[in-house]
Amino acid sequence: MQDIKFYSGENIPLELHKVRIVQKLNLVPIERRLEALYEGGFNTFRLSTMDVFLDMLTDSGTNAMSDNQLAAMMQADDAYAGSQSFVRLQKAVEDVLGKKLLLPVHQGRAAENIISLAYVKKGSLVPMNYHFTTAMAHITQNGGKIAELLYDEAYKINSDHPFKGNMNIEKLEEVIKHHGANNIPFIRMEASTNLIGGQPFSVQNLRDVRAMADKYGIRLVLDASLLGENAYMVLKREAEFKDSTMGEILKIMTGMADLVYFSARKLSSSRGGGMCTDNMTIYKELEALVPLYEGFLTYGGISIREIEAMAVGLYETLDESMICQSPSFIKYLVEALDAKGIPVIKPAGVLGAHVDAMQVCAHIPQTEYPAGALAAALFLISGVRGMERGSISNQRDEYGNETYADMELLRLAVPRRVFTLSQIKYVEDRLNWLYDNRLLIGGLRFVYEPPVLRFFMGGLEPTTDWPQKLMAKFKEDFGESL
Ligand SMILES: Cc1ncc(COP(=O)(O)O)c(C=O)c1O
Repeated sequence: MQDIKFYSGENIPLELHKVRIVQKLNLVPIERRLEALYEGGFNTFRLSTMDVFLDMLTDSGTNAMSDNQLAAMMQADDAYAGSQSFVRLQKAVEDVLGKKLLLPVHQGRAAENIISLAYVKKGSLVPMNYHFTTAMAHITQNGGKIAELLYDEAYKINSDHPFKGNMNIEKLEEVIKHHGANNIPFIRMEASTNLIGGQPFSVQNLRDVRAMADKYGIRLVLDASLLGENAYMVLKREAEFKDSTMGEILKIMTGMADLVYFSARKLSSSRGGGMCTDNMTIYKELEALVPLYEGFLTYGGISIREIEAMAVGLYETLDESMICQSPSFIKYLVEALDAKGIPVIKPAGVLGAHVDAMQVCAHIPQTEYPAGALAAALFLISGVRGMERGSISNQRDEYGNETYADMELLRLAVPRRVFTLSQIKYVEDRLNWLYDNRLLIGGLRFVYEPPVLRFFMGGLEPTTDWPQKLMAKFKEDFGESL
């Protein structure tokens, strides 16, 4: 698909859909937003949508669904076993992801649970381009460890490298030699590395990883939750594929993995998840665990209606005019923020815009969670809910010590086809104001810290009265404006 140029020369992402069902939003006064922060322990996961204006927490389960997805939900064949909806999903998985054997699960982390239960044991090491929170938690729960193997470029905020999600092949071989292939149950490649700014890997890099997996006889597992957008980036950025279709690229990538798993909340703009393979041995190793943890093999804990929406959503990932929407809005936001000097991960990736809290809040030590503080501050002054992707999202090591994140990011997710351009401009405007007033933001400390995945339900408090001071400055500058 060609980019659409404007006569004015402006670089504007154009919505290639129309709005037919709307949901009213709430923009509550700043005083209420301050109360909401205290009630929610300064953790944006714990906010109520009644207090949130633009919900940029995640794209998981929040992408807009299409008319065809909603229509398909009406033909759900509700049956505990042998449902025809599953047959349709199986066909969609084979057509889009090229794998014949499908095991449905209720969401992405359920696949991570089953894969880790089947393959990870004490002493296992799982090399990956980068971890995702739930993937790592399941591996460590089963006694394993992870090794993150990115190139140095991936950790540079300001870069023009097109594939910062590439796995470092030299390090991969070193790690395999050092730990022994026998202790490596699988290599995990994550499409569009969520935690380092939604950065894709190239097909060439995946080929190199595959070659290494073959050389040492190790399984290759692909986390395809964000594969659609990764494939779109390959189409745009990897010369070899500039004339390919989305379908061709997707199949080339999945074809290299022994096992593919995904969160359908992301990949197919529905709910649910799945694991698929062409390898009967792998299928059998995982199959037994699905009825135990998820549900029968033809629904895997997913509502049958969602299975129908998932099948249609998978086909829709092949449509460039749909898949380009989120990345083009992210690019617009990233470039607008960058033009104002706000440090943001470049090049623009997928999933969302990622603001570098380590620079914006350089005056807040990592021990006081700059990314969490920035997320709280942005919510306070705008009602925009982003997500902390920094040290709060990290887990403590086996001795209980804090492990500080490589990057302290405020992620502003841009789910597919949800926001309009004026809403994106509002985010840009408020972030701009916050950046000019950044020294008013202070640190946070934990008051309640759950032992696992602490970022979800953890409670924090500000280390000083900085929220009140930030609110006072907002009122000074914006008067009665919400
Ligand atoms: C790359 C990646 N893998 C796995 C998951 C887990 O999926 P779910 O939230 O459906 O459990 C996510 C969710 O955000 C993700 O981004």
